[in-house]
Amino acid sequence: MSETAEWAGHWDVVIVGAGAAGLMCALAAGARGRRVLVLEHANRVGKKILMSGGGRCNFTNMHSGPEHFLSSNPHFMKSALSRYTPWDFVALVERHGIPYHEKKLGQLFCDRSSKDIVAMLLNECAAVGVQVVTRTPVSTIDAGPPHALVTAAGEVRCDSLVVATGGYSIPKMGATGFGFDFARSLGIPLRPTRAALVPVTLDSRLLGRLRDLSGVSVDTVTRADGGTFRENVLFTHRGLSGPAVLQASSYWEPGMPMEIDLFPDRDIAAYIRDMRVSRPRLTLGNLLAEWLPKRVARRWCALWLGNPRLEVLDDVGIERVQQACQPWTVWPSGTEGYRTAEVTLGGVDTEALSSKTMECRDHPGVYFIGEVVDVTGHLGGHNFQWAWASGHAAGQHV
Ligand code: FDA
Repeated sequence: MSETAEWAGHWDVVIVGAGAAGLMCALAAGARGRRVLVLEHANRVGKKILMSGGGRCNFTNMHSGPEHFLSSNPHFMKSALSRYTPWDFVALVERHGIPYHEKKLGQLFCDRSSKDIVAMLLNECAAVGVQVVTRTPVSTIDAGPPHALVTAAGEVRCDSLVVATGGYSIPKMGATGFGFDFARSLGIPLRPTRAALVPVTLDSRLLGRLRDLSGVSVDTVTRADGGTFRENVLFTHRGLSGPAVLQASSYWEPGMPMEIDLFPDRDIAAYIRDMRVSRPRLTLGNLLAEWLPKRVARRWCALWLGNPRLEVLDDVGIERVQQACQPWTVWPSGTEGYRTAEVTLGGVDTEALSSKTMECRDHPGVYFIGEVVDVTGHLGGHNFQWAWASGHAAGQHV
């Protein structure tokens, strides 16, 4: 064992994980005068913040509200979200002079780089005396009280212990199942976990038929189970991605179809019937290409529809077009899994936590915040908003 670190000893608050939720909790608790230590096992803090939003961090969403979250208890997130809103985070960003813009649908991104957000969080932590230590995995925790944490550099004790270790997604970025394992060791129930906001894969037969569309994107309405999203679908060399599919993947489970309406703004059968009268010599392929990328229109004709002139297309033919496009019903073979998923669905059962403070009902002084909790946001800044809001809620109480 290496020499005992100078930070070993007793703290008011120890936070495990220096991601979005952990750093927000630290700066909020520090501002209340608590002595806070943050332990992070990676070589730098906030790695997911750095890689998010294509390097520009979609740090919140102006419209974030409970309807943008999945959880076995759809009311759980309301309290924290209402006490730390997107505008609270925007005010912090503006105080630090970080330039930002709305991309679409209320999604706010940094103009320059995600590094601005990490620097802001670290500056806020430093200003209130929070100590952040990297390259220090916590290996075991004795839930106490007092809570005792074991690391290779020594043992620390604390009055309040906050678990902010995130989920399983992107293991090469430092993701671990540590928070889930610790919850299990305390007898806290977990909701089943699975990869979400993730591309789906297609079986080799369908993939072979669609492979030359890789890189093509289509405006759609995509549905899976209870989720419906008006966004683009992207064909990939493994299957389907793009915002519509990532969103729908959070609702999709193996064995379910995804329904992809390729003509979100029109009834394609009625449109063909109209055109059959006004433009009878138009081919089906050219009609489809008025609304779809040419390569998709051509492929759909080659695979399923043929390319007749509209004048010879009877009602059975029109119905076939509708069945192939509105919606196109596709049965994914799986997802790309945690390797590429943006988030982990499920996690620490909210029944075990106070929605006001994130403290465990049966383990006073132990808190779970951020992605480790069974609260999962839609794509578009909602997951960070949950990290900020839940971190802030715990930070007011630890
Ligand atoms: P997070 O995973 O951020 O932090 C957990 C920390 O705990 C990590 O630093 C980890 O190293 C550390 N840790 C784990 N085990 C440990 C142990 N035993 N000891 C010590 N430390 C340990 N969301 C959004 O709203 N807008 C966006 O633009 C994006 N973009 C995006 C892109 C990509 C590629 C991914 C993978 C994810 C996103 N997200 C996103 C989702 C967002 O990144 C995610 O919801 C938050 O980072 C969750 O924050 P947490 O702090 O809960 O976990």
